[in-house]
Amino acid sequence: MTLAAKQLGSEESLDALLRRGAERIADGRGCDWAEALFEARLLVAFVTGLGTAALMLQGDRSPAPGVSRRFSYLCDRRAAGEPIAYLLGERGFWRHRFRTTTGVLIPRPDTEVLVEWALELLPSQARWRVIDLGTGTGAIGLSIAAERPEAEIHAVDRSPAAVELAARNRAFLAEQGATVSMGLWRGDWLAAIASASVDLLVSNPPYLAADDPHLGEGDLRHEPCEALVAADDGLADYRRLCAGARRVLRPGGWLLLEHGFAQAESVADRLHQAGFVSVASRRDLAGHPRVTAGRQPG
Ligand SMILES: C[S@@+](CC[C@H](N)C(=O)[O-])C[C@H]1O[C@@H](n2cnc3c(N)ncnc32)[C@H](O)[C@@H]1O
Repeated sequence: MTLAAKQLGSEESLDALLRRGAERIADGRGCDWAEALFEARLLVAFVTGLGTAALMLQGDRSPAPGVSRRFSYLCDRRAAGEPIAYLLGERGFWRHRFRTTTGVLIPRPDTEVLVEWALELLPSQARWRVIDLGTGTGAIGLSIAAERPEAEIHAVDRSPAAVELAARNRAFLAEQGATVSMGLWRGDWLAAIASASVDLLVSNPPYLAADDPHLGEGDLRHEPCEALVAADDGLADYRRLCAGARRVLRPGGWLLLEHGFAQAESVADRLHQAGFVSVASRRDLAGHPRVTAGRQPG
């Protein structure tokens, strides 16, 4: 039995359990009290099946048998740094919840800039062909598919775990009431696509350098290296994506690329070198250039 499990006695109320769990998380992670309490509340809600609002109203209740032990186990894992999204098994992105699992990157709010831009370009009712390259959980492709049911959306990933999870998420979004249709393919970027018939390509490829110090921090320590790291200081995949995109985009089609906050210029250079026009970047909520796009001439 872990230290937290010993401390979290089954006689306690849910409120007391919550406070002790938050203390454990704050101690282990060195985060502030508000953040630890927020995370502990998510974990109590998860193990009890109560919503966080119901939890606030029913805090004096005693937990059901087994709840304390399960909660303590999750608090210990969170205190040791495991991502909360892996512990809860899901993360909100754009308008839906997505299943998460170890071995596949957790979707980030920064990536919503890419979705927003893609939706601005993609007219509603248009039967555009769209491909999400390196789909991971399916967050980008499925979010676009849910907003633009008329479009033909496909998603590709090299990782079998990612393709499997994206398929689960396609069903999960349907359970949440979304109308989603998205073809899923395992493969190496655009290698399997022959014709120049694609209207829009979107990608959040791996872009960290192998020696990036952030890889030793936070959630990144637990996420798959193949989803995060690329050669050539993190820029290796952009050259391949740009060359492949020139081959498969129709005249006037768009390529949208997410990148690191200091990589906008390098990605724009690669787009220009590949022959794209109308190259421009957009910023994330923190004000960093986060997505750069180019248009196929013609
Ligand atoms: C940064 S993650 C992005 C995941 C997801 N699109 C998101 O934004 O949350 C990069 C993804 O690209 C995939 N990937 C890496 N190299 C690839 C390749 N050569 N071909 C296809 N997918 C690749 C990884 O498996 C990973 O799922």
